[in-house]
Amino acid sequence: MKSFKLNNGIEIPAIGFGTWQIPDGNEAYQAVKEAITAGYTHIDTAAIYGNEKSVGKAIKDSGLDRSSLFITTKLWNTERGYEKAIAAFEKSLNDLQLDYLDLYLIHWPANEAQFENWAEINADTWKALEYLYQQGKVRAIGVSNFPKEYLKKLLETATVVPSINQIEFHPGYLQEDTVALCQSNTILVQAWSPLGSGRILQNETLLKLAQEKNTSVGQLCIKFALSQGILPLPKSTNPQNIKRNLDIDSFDLTESDIQRIRAFPEMGFSGSDPKKVAF
Ligand code: A2P
Repeated sequence: MKSFKLNNGIEIPAIGFGTWQIPDGNEAYQAVKEAITAGYTHIDTAAIYGNEKSVGKAIKDSGLDRSSLFITTKLWNTERGYEKAIAAFEKSLNDLQLDYLDLYLIHWPANEAQFENWAEINADTWKALEYLYQQGKVRAIGVSNFPKEYLKKLLETATVVPSINQIEFHPGYLQEDTVALCQSNTILVQAWSPLGSGRILQNETLLKLAQEKNTSVGQLCIKFALSQGILPLPKSTNPQNIKRNLDIDSFDLTESDIQRIRAFPEMGFSGSDPKKVAF
């Protein structure tokens, strides 16, 4: 699998397997096993997904060498702040049965809708991630769902520049300002819901384009993210989709295809605006 190089020199496989909304237990276990068998070496989970134990078991049972896998998890919102973040990291590591992580992310920023001192909270939480990174417990650190203004604020006090900002990104929801700020600061953007969580799969233009290229809308969306220098994290529990979401070299996207996709009006937005969410 191709890879991106992070701003600290670490290689990250260019497509990751997302596990959001895959229930803990057999479903998450089977999906991750299926993904690893299909060739994914990059798995993305989070404490709040509640499936770290099953994801960890599938990783362990895969028999693959730890160093050949890239594992990400995320700090949940109730665990912000220096001490709590460090404890939450240890719990995730334990639940995943791992002794280091490849990537640890702040899942959502403390926001202005909930906290007057949101910037201070985010800076304090970030310090914990910097500590974990400096201790060698995690190979790279980053954020998720940080809009442009929040990322700018964090960069004012950060001593380690985040390697990643994982945001909602798919045709019809490009977050251009945030992506531009990340890309001009060596921060790799990861796309959650790169297929709009299914909400854009019936779009007529995408369906027509996929048909022309003898591929599926899902694969088209994955290739589109990559064409923008963005790392997609598609998720699926269907073995056929799990496999075909890695099969993106059998067709090309021309510059005009890309411009057509970029020109879509807003569609498929999850409704979760990081500045406003109440969780
Ligand atoms: P399924 O689990 O049945 O494959 P996202 O990654 O944007 O959150 O989208 C995930 C949704 O898209 C899931 O409902 C998943 O369903 C579906 N999906 C994933 N890959 C494909 C694909 N290649 N074609 C169609 N639907 C897909």
